[in-house]
Amino acid sequence: MNKPALIEVSSLGKSFTTPGGVIEVLHGVNLKICAGERVAVVGTSGAGKTTLMHILGGLDHPTAGEVLFEGNSLFALKGADLDAFRNRTVGFVFQFHQLLPEFTALENVMMPLLIGGVMRSTAVQKATEILTEVGLQKRLTHKPGALSGGEQQRVAIARALICEPRLLLADEPTGNLDSRISDEIMQLLNMMHQTRGLTMVIVTHNVLLANSLDRTLRIEDGVVVGDELN
Ligand SMILES: Nc1ncnc2c1ncn2[C@@H]1O[C@H](COP(=O)(O)OP(=O)(O)OP(=O)(O)O)[C@@H](O)[C@H]1O
Ligand SMILES: [Mg+2]
Repeated sequence: MNKPALIEVSSLGKSFTTPGGVIEVLHGVNLKICAGERVAVVGTSGAGKTTLMHILGGLDHPTAGEVLFEGNSLFALKGADLDAFRNRTVGFVFQFHQLLPEFTALENVMMPLLIGGVMRSTAVQKATEILTEVGLQKRLTHKPGALSGGEQQRVAIARALICEPRLLLADEPTGNLDSRISDEIMQLLNMMHQTRGLTMVIVTHNVLLANSLDRTLRIEDGVVVGDELN
């Protein structure tokens, strides 16, 4: 594959210092993800998948190795530049959506735009458009507690994509949904990939979801033990 790499990870390591000693969670992880690729990350519980996602998204720092994003070292970014990377270049979807309970669906989706300095009227318009795209045009003023699990995850996907990131990182996006709703979320993610040419890295235990993507990366005990095209 000769496409340009969006992300290149080399000799990545991550350890945590705890009262009980140092835990080495990732060691010697090497991988390359091309622009537009859809990668599934699988592995048993505790393998280091979430830790890897946090590092790829600039939410946590590695203790060894390097992450290049479009050829530039991610962790050379500091302060406002790192914030801008997290806010605009990457979108996150978590298993438990992490929407703000006091705010409506529309407000939750507008939030990253407002944080990025976009005018309120523009934010309302863009958030309405993307919520319509994910099928929630009739749920704009609902708060998360008044939405179903699948609807909450749609809002989370809209919020992750509102700043038009180049990379979508999703950690168990269908983890707490039944199979029919998981299927709908999987189709929505793949539709978003098609319409936007997004690069997606998705941690999942859902075999159907993993198989619907381009490639599967298997992580065990903090190392990549498998990397195959689907
Ligand atoms: N902040 C932390 N401090 C100490 N240890 C941590 C920390 N975060 C993660 N770990 C440990 O690192 C290991 C990997 O955790 P991680 O959350 O990356 O696993 P995972 O592959 O996402 O598992 P799951 O499938 O259960 O979500 C675990 O043993 C966990 O206890
Ligand atoms: Mg995890």
